[in-house]
Amino acid sequence: MRNVVLALSFVATLVACGGGEQAKAPEAPPTPVAEAPKPAEPPPAPAEPVAFDAKATFGQVCGTCHGLEGKGDGVAAAGLNPKPAAFGDPEFWKTRDEAHIKKVIKEGGAAVGKSPMMAPYGAQFNDEQIAALAAHVMTFKPQ
Ligand code: HEC
Repeated sequence: MRNVVLALSFVATLVACGGGEQAKAPEAPPTPVAEAPKPAEPPPAPAEPVAFDAKATFGQVCGTCHGLEGKGDGVAAAGLNPKPAAFGDPEFWKTRDEAHIKKVIKEGGAAVGKSPMMAPYGAQFNDEQIAALAAHVMTFKPQ
């Protein structure tokens, strides 16, 4: 009988220790879950490729010398000799056509025996843009 009591208390001890909280590894305090970084805003949809604006480009790039109206009276014109071509002059158009204008814009004045102050723009604009610039120059031609 004594043995039985001992055995029982032993079992009780086992239960108390083995099944109790102590057996578990002390739980680490819950680490504060860092707020998941919000996914970055999706980049804005690529804008439609901006159509080349020949008029605006002429104003910005060519206008300095040729003037916004192509009269050859841009702010830099005074210091140039020969003067930038005046595209409103009927004389000018007697010997020039659109193909010639494209060539001048792409290859520069020197390529057509004119002043190198008229720089080549072939590296800056592609053929399509040069064609658009030439078409814009054509709008200055007196009808
Ligand atoms: C730094 C000043 C300058 C800028 C900028 C300039 N030009 Fe000129 N351009 C000239 C000058 C100077 C001439 C005249 C050359 C000559 O008569 O020998 C000329 C001549 C021309 C001619 C006529 C060439 C010919 O057959 O006589 C065209 C066309 C022309 N430019 C177009 C343009 C266009 C288009 C742009 C802009 C993409 C431009 N130019 C930018 C100075 C400039």
